[in-house]
Amino acid sequence: MLRRLHPEQPESFAFTPDNQAWAEGQITKYPEGRQASAIIPILWRAQEQEGWLSKPAIEHVADMLGLSYIRALEVATFYFMFQLQPVGSVAHIQVCGTTSCMICGAEDLVAVCKEKIAPEPHALSADGKFSWEEVECLGACSNAPMAQIGKDYYEDLTADRMGAIIDEMAAGKVPVPGPQNGRYAAEPLKGLTSLTEHDSGKTQYNASAQLAVDIGDSIKRIDGTEVPLVMPWQGKPANKAAKPAKAKTKPAAKKSAPKTPAAEPAAADARPAQLSDAPRDGGADDLKRISGVGPKLEETLNSLGIWHFDQVASFTKADIAWVDARLRFKGRIERDDWIGQAKALADEKDS
Ligand code: FES
Repeated sequence: MLRRLHPEQPESFAFTPDNQAWAEGQITKYPEGRQASAIIPILWRAQEQEGWLSKPAIEHVADMLGLSYIRALEVATFYFMFQLQPVGSVAHIQVCGTTSCMICGAEDLVAVCKEKIAPEPHALSADGKFSWEEVECLGACSNAPMAQIGKDYYEDLTADRMGAIIDEMAAGKVPVPGPQNGRYAAEPLKGLTSLTEHDSGKTQYNASAQLAVDIGDSIKRIDGTEVPLVMPWQGKPANKAAKPAKAKTKPAAKKSAPKTPAAEPAAADARPAQLSDAPRDGGADDLKRISGVGPKLEETLNSLGIWHFDQVASFTKADIAWVDARLRFKGRIERDDWIGQAKALADEKDS
C-alpha cells in the first residue's frame, strides 16, 4: 500500500504547552547522541493530539530532534499506526479483518462502517465525525470479531452492536470497551470451568476495560493535561511539572555527568580556524545535502560559522569536539560521517 502525505495540509503545527513539555521530557530518556530515538513516541503524541500526522507536524518533530525531514518522513510513512490523512473528529475505527475475526463476522462490521461512515476506508463520514479502516490481527482473536476505536478494544461485536456503538459515539457517549456480548474477558462463552474461586475482588469490568473506563480517554484527543506520566529517571511528572523542572535539567546533567563539561574546556575555547562569520562570496553551500542535517541544524551550523562543505571536510578531532559541544545531540558528526560526506560534496562542487 502506498503511503503518501495527504494532498491537503494545514499551514502549521504546534504542540499544546503540556504536550510540548511531555515531548521534551521523552527526549531525556535517551543517551547523549541518541535522542533521535524519541521520534516514535513524539510522532505518536502529535497524532494523539491532532488525530493524524500532517506534514507540518512531522517537520515540527524532525526539528525538535535535529533530524532532516526525510528521516522523520521515513518513520511516519513506514508504520501503519501513523495516520497520514485526517481522521474522524469523534473516532477512527479500526476493524480487524484477519482470520479469526473474518470467520466470526468482520465483513459484517466492515459493511456497517461502509454504510454508516464512508464507502471507502480512510475517508471521512459526511459529518466529519468518523473514519474507518481494516487492519491486521490486533491480538484479541479469542474475542473475535473486534475493532479498535481510539485507544481501546471493542470485542465480541455483531453488526448491530457495531452500528449502535457508532450511533452512541456520534451522540457524545463512549460505550464501555471490552466484550460486547456479556463476557467478562476471554473466558469460554459458557462461563468459567476452572479458577472459579478467584471471583472475589473482581472489578466491574475486566482489567483493560476497567482501566479504559477509569482513565476515560478512549476517544479523547490528548492535550497533555491528562493524568501526569511520571518519568522515573527525573522523578517528576512528564507534563505539568516539566516547565519548572526544565531549569533543573542542566544542573542535574552536570551532577550526573561531570565529565562532559569538565572534559571539554579546551574544545569549548578553541574555535576552529576555518570557521567564519559569514559565507564567502558566492554564498553558502546547501549544508542540508549532508545526510542528517535539516533546516534547523543548518541554521545552527551557520550561526557557529560553518557555511561550506570544505570547512566540514577539514575538521580535525579538536574541531569536531568544538562543534559537537555546541550541538544539541553530541556524536552526530561522526555517527553520520559528516566529514566523508562533506569531502564528497566539496569534490563534486570543485569538479
Ligand atoms: S484475528 Fe482479529 S484480533 Fe486476531
